[in-house]
Amino acid sequence: MASAILLAATVSAQSLKPIKLVTPSKERGASIMQSLANRQSVREFSEKKLSDQDLSDVIWAACGINRPAEGKRTSPTAMNKQDVDLYVFLAEGVYLYDVKNHSLAPVVAGDHRPLIGDRQPTINKAPAILLMVSDLARFDVNVGNDVKREFGALDVGIVSQNISLFCAGCGLVTVPRAFMDKEKLRTLLKLSDTQVLMLNNPVGYPK
Ligand SMILES: Cc1cc2nc3c(=O)[nH]c(=O)nc-3n(C[C@H](O)[C@H](O)[C@H](O)COP(=O)(O)O)c2cc1C
Repeated sequence: MASAILLAATVSAQSLKPIKLVTPSKERGASIMQSLANRQSVREFSEKKLSDQDLSDVIWAACGINRPAEGKRTSPTAMNKQDVDLYVFLAEGVYLYDVKNHSLAPVVAGDHRPLIGDRQPTINKAPAILLMVSDLARFDVNVGNDVKREFGALDVGIVSQNISLFCAGCGLVTVPRAFMDKEKLRTLLKLSDTQVLMLNNPVGYPK
């Protein structure tokens, strides 16, 4: 039985292919002040799929590498520990952002967006949902668990705000959300004890 479940999970991830994201466009969007003026939480989405450019750009804006020589990113992290992993939920499956290669690695096939929308069903209509997970094990320094959790939450908050500002500046909509079915997501994504599900941002076009 256990081996049948394992086989099913492996097959399910294999049915997805890695997605090479297009080169991010740095020449677009409203000014930073206009983006701040536009930023707002929106919870209704058109079901239209994100264009390749928008998918790439919102992910890069979230936590992509902006200084390749140093491997540093659009979003800062405490002590540059780069603890935030970005899971991307699309209609066909869940992917993990491979930051170094600016690509999406398959995690599990199937539409799992309802685990994130949970009790807010309009969220499940968003064509992409970005889920931020902080891996506290990357804070391999002599500080207590409370401090590690605080660092993780702060780092995730910045990634989320990058997503919100990108959306506000480029004609997309989003909302930062803490609610989701954490228990089921933890099992689905096979997270370890140190990986903390913190926030999600559904992303799409206005309805
Ligand atoms: C940490 C955090 C968690 C949030 N969680 C949710 C959520 O689970 N569901 C939701 O609809 N909105 C959520 N929000 C959005 C807030 O409700 C929203 O930001 C607030 O009402 C202010 O509205 P504005 O973003 O349009 O300024 C969250 C916001 C933050 C910062």
